[in-house]
Amino acid sequence: MRLSRYFLPVLKETPAEAQIASHRLMLRAGMIKQASAGNYSWLPMGFKVLRKLENIVHEEQIRAGHIPMLMPTLQSADLWRESGRYDDYGEEMLRITDRHGRDMLYGPTNEELITDIFRSHVGSYKELPLTLYHIQWKFRDEIRPRFGVMRGREFLMKDGYNFDLTREDAMHAYNRHLVSYLRTYERMGLQAIPMRAESGPIGGDDTHEFLVLAETGESGVFYDSEITDLRFGDREIDYDDVAACQSVMEEFTSRYARTDDTHDEAVFHERVPEARRREGRGIEVGQIFYFGTKYSEPMGATVQGPDGKPVPVHMGSHGIGVSRLVGAIIEASHDDKGIIWPEGVTPFHVGIVNLKQGDSEADAACEAIYKSVEALGLEPLYDDTDDRAGAKFATQDLIGLPWRITVGPRGLKNGVVELTSRRTGASEELPPEKAVEKIAQIYAPHHGAPRSEPMAKRSFHTWL
Ligand SMILES: Nc1ncnc2c1ncn2[C@@H]1O[C@H](COP(=O)(O)OP(=O)(O)O)[C@@H](O)[C@H]1O
Ligand SMILES: [Mg+2]
Repeated sequence: MRLSRYFLPVLKETPAEAQIASHRLMLRAGMIKQASAGNYSWLPMGFKVLRKLENIVHEEQIRAGHIPMLMPTLQSADLWRESGRYDDYGEEMLRITDRHGRDMLYGPTNEELITDIFRSHVGSYKELPLTLYHIQWKFRDEIRPRFGVMRGREFLMKDGYNFDLTREDAMHAYNRHLVSYLRTYERMGLQAIPMRAESGPIGGDDTHEFLVLAETGESGVFYDSEITDLRFGDREIDYDDVAACQSVMEEFTSRYARTDDTHDEAVFHERVPEARRREGRGIEVGQIFYFGTKYSEPMGATVQGPDGKPVPVHMGSHGIGVSRLVGAIIEASHDDKGIIWPEGVTPFHVGIVNLKQGDSEADAACEAIYKSVEALGLEPLYDDTDDRAGAKFATQDLIGLPWRITVGPRGLKNGVVELTSRRTGASEELPPEKAVEKIAQIYAPHHGAPRSEPMAKRSFHTWL
């Protein structure tokens, strides 16, 4: 992409309404525009990041054996009356009446709809286990939408639902989700800690929330500091291996880590030595639930068991806040100049800055670099505008591409360009082809999880 042809409406001024860094930076970097309270348009660069996150979520869900599909945003109230949640859900549910006077709602979640699909088509235990998921917009009429996409009213969520014959099988599904979530967040350059949580309107006893530590987070968190040393990393995992998934679950959830809803000061003191007790704030980026037969029983989602008798299926639901994650990543990775994208989610892989647009040598060198980066299957963003060098650098720092190649007549006289890391600020001078080679190495596919695999080569569409 050439900046002169792109749509990147960066703002010079800091928007007054934004209270936290990620909201400010998303507005300033031209990623989003508020459409109405808690409701945003995703401008091209914001949309690109959102799609990258979606792609990672799809890849990791499919890797875990879960099956993608798509349910509508609008649902009929009837199903929610069956489960008893139409009245329970309260003011957060956006209720709509269609022209025939039928009660509809904009789905805040999908347990009812998926249970209906299941009961209509699955009759035997032999068709289990089954986990279906989708990535779809949700609406919750939050009383106080704030912090931009972090607490929106309309937001994008991955929600997955497992159907199993027994509690044990459903717990394996729970553990599988936990493992796949650990991988998902790490690929996004985030550490998200599973913490024991309260289940809220979804119901059920077994539930963990995944929290990214951040001072601006809405949840209070209490944890054993040892937990921050844990990484899933590049381990290979067989998602059918019940014991292996369980042991990862135990490794990541055995230490004390709870949100303010479940925190117990006495237990905290008893289990964690004082030097390791930490208290802080976190952003909830996902949650997994086991809720047994809470929906299958009232809604009649039964299968014929091995003995021929009907049994209600054991279920769980598992959510990732995809649009919130864009904000959470920025919250965890920025400085006073702007965003610092982790390589796995960056909207463009490298920025190319031409210090003297119109200088034939500089222009030609930039074009050559642009073409060779594209030939690698990577996406460059070439600032080919007539802006001053200072303004170009400020834009690059603001939008936060992890790498920048700076090209100017003076360097070219010595046969070099400059390669700069956004994170460390460190620069090195090297011949243009060496700079491109380094970019190729940085984004080389990782074994197992292709951490930084270019979208162009493996978009989620190719998985479906
Ligand atoms: N209002 C919102 N705006 C953006 N993301 C949200 C919002 N509400 C929930 N999410 C995201 O969706 C994920 C799954 O939702 P869920 O656990 O049902 O939400 P909650 O715990 O807030 O009721 C949450 O972990 C969070 O990341
Ligand atoms: Mg939650």
